[in-house]
Amino acid sequence: MLATANRRTLPRSVPALRQRWYGDIAMRFETWSKGIATLDVDCLVVGIFDENELSEEARALDAASGGRLKKLLGRGDFPGKPAETLLIADLPGIGATRVLLTGLGARKSFGRKAWRKAWTAAVAALSKTGIESVALAIERPQAKELDDYYFGRTVAEIAEAGSYRINDLKSGKKPKPLRLGRVLAGPVAKGAAAAVNRGLTHGAAIAEACKVQRDLANLPGNVCTPIFLAEETRALAKRYRSLRVRVLDGPAIRREKMGCLLAVSQGSAQPPRFIVIEHGGSGKAGSAAHPVVLVGKGVTFDTGGISLKDPPSMDEMKFDMSGAAAVIASLTLAAALDLPLRVVGLVAAVENMPDGKAVKPGDIATSASGQTVEILNTDAEGRLILCDALHYARRFQPAAVVDVATLTGACVVALGHHHSGAMGNDEALVTELVAAGVRADDRAWPLPVTEEYAEQLKSNFADFANIGGRDGGAITAAAFLGKFTQGLKWAHLDVAGTAYQSGAQKGSTGRPTPLLADFLIHRAGL
Ligand code: BES
Ligand code: MN
Ligand code: ZN
Repeated sequence: MLATANRRTLPRSVPALRQRWYGDIAMRFETWSKGIATLDVDCLVVGIFDENELSEEARALDAASGGRLKKLLGRGDFPGKPAETLLIADLPGIGATRVLLTGLGARKSFGRKAWRKAWTAAVAALSKTGIESVALAIERPQAKELDDYYFGRTVAEIAEAGSYRINDLKSGKKPKPLRLGRVLAGPVAKGAAAAVNRGLTHGAAIAEACKVQRDLANLPGNVCTPIFLAEETRALAKRYRSLRVRVLDGPAIRREKMGCLLAVSQGSAQPPRFIVIEHGGSGKAGSAAHPVVLVGKGVTFDTGGISLKDPPSMDEMKFDMSGAAAVIASLTLAAALDLPLRVVGLVAAVENMPDGKAVKPGDIATSASGQTVEILNTDAEGRLILCDALHYARRFQPAAVVDVATLTGACVVALGHHHSGAMGNDEALVTELVAAGVRADDRAWPLPVTEEYAEQLKSNFADFANIGGRDGGAITAAAFLGKFTQGLKWAHLDVAGTAYQSGAQKGSTGRPTPLLADFLIHRAGL
């Protein structure tokens, strides 16, 4: 349900915004251990290797059904190719009314990746049916590829992510809501149930956080304004006892002397907001504890300003608040899992527009740190709002600061859409984030931020310029942020290539929330 506070903020031009809003995932997760043929569910999901090789569970089903499965495969009806599925109804001798075969590919290359693919394809197939409950009986990869905890987590994450629907504003009939509501993960050995269940709980929470990010990021720029982001954060925080939210408006931001943030915002009719979200700070992780501070780039629309962007795909710059959405989402996750860790989220929310009042190339702004910046390109606005947010982080005496931003097209050129860029001034922290990304299947790759890059930011008129030329653009952007994070343990995730997809699949991916979730869960020692 859309909170009343939010409904108020919707412009009149946007009709009844949405039926499903974040937080309405109601999938139940359990485990099963044996007796696949007698499980009380609508459907069993069984893996088949190529060349018709049956997995262990498939063999059990084949036996229970009097050889029906082997017969079907013998006819060549299901080659077991990755991402392929086949739904079979009413196999005799089996409790479930349907069996969904999902291809595992070649046995010798079967691992975590192939398993993920098979379960993802199965969820996509299930979402087109009326199946309400399902038992997962895909052969599991070796424990070193996917241990019990991550098995549970991935089962839940993929099930929920696969059932995500964009809250579109199409006026026609809405597709039927998803029926799948109960998922049994297995087979789970007796001693493993606790770890799998913990994984399922965490996975469901991570998926829910991803949904928060995706819902916010998918909204159009005329709905998701800085004010809207702030009010949504407030509404979300109300669901979680541990979250406290403070919002700085324009005058308060001015009092903080965030001159770079204000320079970006000054050309927009939408006033800026600076959002502070806190989790923890009492009990074990008391307010004396040094928090992890997450900082999000919240450019609710990036036209480029006076350095206006080209028209093609400018609409995608509504996703330029993905970092902010990931930070908000990660705070809700910390609260949902009640992590024994103090976490602070800082979101700089602005709109970047060209206007008579807009900042111009060559203008000089004074950052909250006192350092001056020559704004040579108004389209390099992300670093301008982040530098003031990063400076604000100092007051928390953080154990670590991680900013998340769709910061540069250059990062997309460097890494494509597979890895986020990981940079910073603390190698251990960058390594920690990269490792979290590997575990969470939400990978990041390190780029070197050595001193040389900062030299590209030289300015004749101010302490430095906000751009450093085309070469190494992802790194010079990080080097700029490095000027404001000296003495802090700081890392930067450039998610320009990973936070959303273009083309037919256009939409938010929810990344890097799984990475951040894993990072926080590990920091909390869970
Ligand atoms: N939001 C963009 C970065 C971006 C580009 C994100 C493409 C996703 C896809 C950022 O504000 C920007 O415009 N960066 C400029 C920096 C340049 C002017 C130094 C860029 O990457 O072109
Ligand atoms: Mn820009
Ligand atoms: Zn931007």
